[in-house]
Amino acid sequence: MNTTTLSEATATMDQDFIPEIELGLLAERASISPKFLYDPLGSHLFTAITLLPEYYPTNTEKNIFTQYQNEIAQIVGIGGTLIDLGAGNCQKAESFFNSLKPSNYIAIDFSVEYLQDALNKLAGKYPHIQMQCIGMDFSKHLSVPDTSSNTKKTFFYPGSSIGNFVSSEALELLSQIKKQANQGGLLIGVDLMKEDSVLMAAYDDPLKVTAAFNLNILRSINSHLGSNFRVDQFRHTVKINHTENRVELYLEALEDLTVTWNGNSRVFKKGELIHTEYSHKYTIESIKQLLKNAGFASTHIWKDPKDYFAVIYAQ
Ligand code: AVI
Repeated sequence: MNTTTLSEATATMDQDFIPEIELGLLAERASISPKFLYDPLGSHLFTAITLLPEYYPTNTEKNIFTQYQNEIAQIVGIGGTLIDLGAGNCQKAESFFNSLKPSNYIAIDFSVEYLQDALNKLAGKYPHIQMQCIGMDFSKHLSVPDTSSNTKKTFFYPGSSIGNFVSSEALELLSQIKKQANQGGLLIGVDLMKEDSVLMAAYDDPLKVTAAFNLNILRSINSHLGSNFRVDQFRHTVKINHTENRVELYLEALEDLTVTWNGNSRVFKKGELIHTEYSHKYTIESIKQLLKNAGFASTHIWKDPKDYFAVIYAQ
């Protein structure tokens, strides 16, 4: 099988993340980075979210990909290296293998265990594509290894994951992509601002899958930190912030409680919030401006009929 794994990031990961987690938990307004949502169970719960009828981004993006598959391939160009940021189960990238015909596929994600399984299956199906799997926290620093063939790089960043960064972080990541893309470009999915009712249903679904996804971050933190968070002492809470154009996810303490770990402790009063995620929603103008600020000179944009979501190729 034609895959290699680079997971040097995971070997030291637990130790490296402890100061960051503690800083967030001990802050006056407690927070946990959304990257900790994606432990093995969290990654499966996120896949379940993408199957919910209320979670429109996945299906809307998929429909845009399907409808404009050939046009996108024409603009992006075939062959070269496809670099999948936040690859997850690699399904979205796979949907482009036949049209983009990459010679190399580099799948990057925070949770390398989940990614490796997906990549092993894919490698059996596409033996002619050289595949590589990298465990990397690219929210901090993006560094893509040079492939043996010095081909054009297409970065693939679907699902509107860019929305999970505040604007300064998003600008930093997009600028790093631009620098490393060279003559290539970025194919990105971006969620657009829309009415509250649609957003609330998507982020507080009636089956409570998103609630489970959000609450599971506490177990993920327990395993990194050795803390004693109890999931039943918190509830999933969603707010829409119209000033910042974003959905905000929190965990709200249902009672007064104390969480302890390794000689440290944090008291939460009933009603106190832990911030876990932002999901920024863009307008076409605001995302074009952000891409321009990151150094991308041109954009091609495809949208769905309701203007819920945009797929953009930036160069
Ligand atoms: C991965 N990311 C784009 C998702 C989003 O919509 O912001 C994560 C998510 N959080 C709750 N539901 C989905």
